[in-house]
Amino acid sequence: MRQQPKLPLVVLISGGGTNLQAIIDGAAGGELPVKIQAVISNRPGAGGLERAAKAGIHTEVLDHKRFPDRDAYDRALGDLVQSHHPGLVLLAGFMRILTAEFVQRFEGRMLNIHPSLLPKHQGLHTHQRALDDGDRVHGASVHFVTEELDGGPLVIQAEVPVELGDDANRLAARVLQREHQIYPAAVRWFAEGRLRLDHARVWLDGCALEAPLRLPFGVEPPV
Ligand code: GRF
Repeated sequence: MRQQPKLPLVVLISGGGTNLQAIIDGAAGGELPVKIQAVISNRPGAGGLERAAKAGIHTEVLDHKRFPDRDAYDRALGDLVQSHHPGLVLLAGFMRILTAEFVQRFEGRMLNIHPSLLPKHQGLHTHQRALDDGDRVHGASVHFVTEELDGGPLVIQAEVPVELGDDANRLAARVLQREHQIYPAAVRWFAEGRLRLDHARVWLDGCALEAPLRLPFGVEPPV
């Protein structure tokens, strides 16, 4: 049987890397036709670096503190990412605002995972804000990255019910479980050539999405 060619990925992280782990596991298990070329962190101690190293993946640290400004950092980061020739760049808990120049360089081939049902709760502290607003349904979103922070075209969302007695940590843990389902799904569709961004619209299986796929609680991503 002919093997599907593997899409080269670069994953950018700043923290623990559980989303990275979901991608690593999907690739190792054969569900994702991807090869992670490099994991790059802006933070030297990011836990995700260890996860990558354990899986035998090349890691790099590009510490933003060593650069005079955001433009200089993003230029260096862009060059580093490009040196690995990615077909897709994943932001997986990469906690930095990106310059327009960087975003344009990888537009249409860069995805992000965000812990809310966008456009609700863009930015930080999404779980606390969902609780403060009295949301009954919270969740996570995967979107293409554009210049608008957390504002690019949405691909897929998963709902998580807010439970009585939830605090931000409890809620975050349940949202993360959903993130680990929807991010690999979107990556697989992209790697299989089924998902693309064209003229600011998301196309999946030949159809322009009018709205993101939205998974009610308990429903897993379609194959
Ligand atoms: C996730 O909640 C992700 O949505 C957000 O940052 C968190 C990263 O978690 N952007 P991890 O490092 O993947 O565990």
